Amino acid sequence: MMSSRKGDDSSSLPPLEEVEELLTDSEDDQLPTGWDMRITEKGRVFYISHADRHTQWKHPKSGKEKYLSKDLPFGWKRATDENGKVIFVDNVNKRTTCVDPRIAYAMTKKKAVSKFDAESTAMAVLRGRDLRGRTALVTGGTSGIGYETAKALSLHGCHVVLVCRDLKKGQNAANNIMKKQAVTAPVDILQCDLSSLQSVRACAQVFIKRKWPLHILICNAGVMGIPSYQQTTDGIEETFATNHLGHFLLVDLLRDLLIDSEPSRIVVVSSESHRFPSTYCDHFDISAVPLRQENYSPMVAYNQSKLCNILFAFELNRRMSPYGVYCNAVNPGCLIWTKLQRHSISYKLLYAFFRPFTKSKEQGAATTIYCATSHELENIGGFYFNHCCGCQPSKFASDERLAKELWEFSERIVYHGIR
Ligand SMILES: NC(=O)c1ccc[n+]([C@@H]2O[C@H](COP(=O)([O-])OP(=O)(O)OC[C@H]3O[C@@H](n4cnc5c(N)ncnc54)[C@H](OP(=O)(O)O)[C@@H]3O)[C@@H](O)[C@H]2O)c1
Repeated sequence: MMSSRKGDDSSSLPPLEEVEELLTDSEDDQLPTGWDMRITEKGRVFYISHADRHTQWKHPKSGKEKYLSKDLPFGWKRATDENGKVIFVDNVNKRTTCVDPRIAYAMTKKKAVSKFDAESTAMAVLRGRDLRGRTALVTGGTSGIGYETAKALSLHGCHVVLVCRDLKKGQNAANNIMKKQAVTAPVDILQCDLSSLQSVRACAQVFIKRKWPLHILICNAGVMGIPSYQQTTDGIEETFATNHLGHFLLVDLLRDLLIDSEPSRIVVVSSESHRFPSTYCDHFDISAVPLRQENYSPMVAYNQSKLCNILFAFELNRRMSPYGVYCNAVNPGCLIWTKLQRHSISYKLLYAFFRPFTKSKEQGAATTIYCATSHELENIGGFYFNHCCGCQPSKFASDERLAKELWEFSERIVYHGIR
């Protein structure tokens, strides 16, 4: 499996910036014996190990990923010779070669510049954009951050599909969005209770039957602070089932559509709470999820589900990016006044107290919209974003082994009913 996540072991990433590096003959760039370099049709560099016949995006020595620029260097032309083979003509130096000259200038895509920050709103991020012809599925679009996300997409021409557990609420949200439209863009609603695997399957089936494309999938729905241990109809703790497992299954069932619609993007809405998945902050493993009745804590259940969101997003990106589907995780903000606090008076008081100092819902949707649509993030996945900037997630969230284990565990539950 090709890997595409860009690693960075700095503890706190600066604002993202695009850095170009020349692929020189530096020792770092020379390939070990038995390795070769190739380029995909889209100009992405990959490496082949002839010894064990596997391919990967990362340079086997430097670990860097390289891309070619869209344009040929000045004076170069692409042509075909008399046998139909692609050749490159250098008109300046009057020579012809079958090696793509852009290889000499391959870029290391480190970061992308974001002109947005914590104060940006979803509408500001989309200013000037035309999303007609694109289809986005938003879970949890009936209220809060999801509603603002769906509204901003729709007001820029995107066909939005609201996936909601309550059709009446969904219809109200769709009507409210459509009332604000200057140019008509369809807003559809589909019923889905993410805490029920059977409901997720039914929803995915309907989506596929409608023959819509799927360019943007936003896993936004979430619950927090369910006061006592609750099991879903599938016998799974409710916070984990809703926030992680339902989305895991939904994305998996819509996988082919996402690939057919490539380049497509998935955004998984997580939270800074992911940093506290257990009372023992130095230890976490997958056997801890989902919480059992005897050790249930509403906040730990939520924090763990948000950690699962990032682990899922990164693993998804590793698996899907070779097919043109990129996935990032986001933190929308902290203590944003929405219906998320509905289960607890203490949370309501806390969120109400901080309300004047925290982001609005419109600002809360900005990072999701940035990851779902920005040009800077074309072909970029496997990052965690905060305030429209890349940021370092916790060490557990960056742990590839944990991500793989969570993936396999989730597969066992949704496809084999094993817990
Ligand atoms: N607010 C914050 O400060 C904050 C901070 C960090 C992260 N987040 C994350 O942001 C996301 C959106 O939260 P929010 O603050 O906008 O909260 P919200 O207003 O409560 O919105 C949550 C949405 O999820 C839907 N939902 C809940 N359970 C569902 C289920 N079983 N099936 C289908 N849909 C379900 C809700 O639908 P109903 O209308 O039917 O209830 C609602 O549309 C969540 O993932 C949350 O963890 C929020």
